[in-house]
Amino acid sequence: GDPRLEAISAAIRVVPNFPKKGIMFQDITTLLLDHKAFKHTIDIFVDRYKDMQISVVAGVEARGFMFGPSIALAIGAKFVPLRKPGKLPGKVISESYELEYGHDRLEMHVDAVQSRERVIIIDDLVATGGTLSAAISLMESEGAEVVECACVIGLPEVKGQHKLKGKPLYVLVEPSGLDDFC
Ligand code: PRP
Ligand code: MG
Repeated sequence: GDPRLEAISAAIRVVPNFPKKGIMFQDITTLLLDHKAFKHTIDIFVDRYKDMQISVVAGVEARGFMFGPSIALAIGAKFVPLRKPGKLPGKVISESYELEYGHDRLEMHVDAVQSRERVIIIDDLVATGGTLSAAISLMESEGAEVVECACVIGLPEVKGQHKLKGKPLYVLVEPSGLDDFC
């Protein structure tokens, strides 16, 4: 396969039992420290989306913010932050999603996207797909078209894909042999 994907995979640090027992945490901060691997990551997404008439890259707080803006700048799109509750000062729409224990919410400024704009949603990782599903709902409720969801890391058998409202999911690397991810 693509040797860049191996470099990306190797640059992601796996931390057992963080933030709690049984979780194999996928730490992308080490990817951000590795200039070559970080550049490969952005380049792969840019090559994929540059000619797809994408006008919006939406990133999910917080780790989606670490990849989205670089991609947006390179493909000539705007960047829209999807934020945790209570952070955005303008008029927002809000969408809840399930966590392992309880739920959380994402918010977006209503004037950040226009009806029919073509959107890519970026995050670092998809596990259950709950976060991306909420992001898709926010975009669709403003009439935007979610072309694809893109993540650096995805589960081998992405359970999340069934939750993504039929939207395509593109992931760069899929860790294997691990029970749980975060
Ligand atoms: C993590 C990760 C994804 C999400 C994936 O974010 O960055 O956004 O979980 O999980 P899911 O597919 O099961 O929804 P988290 O909410 O832990 O916070 P952070 O990005 O702010 O660190
Ligand atoms: Mg996150």
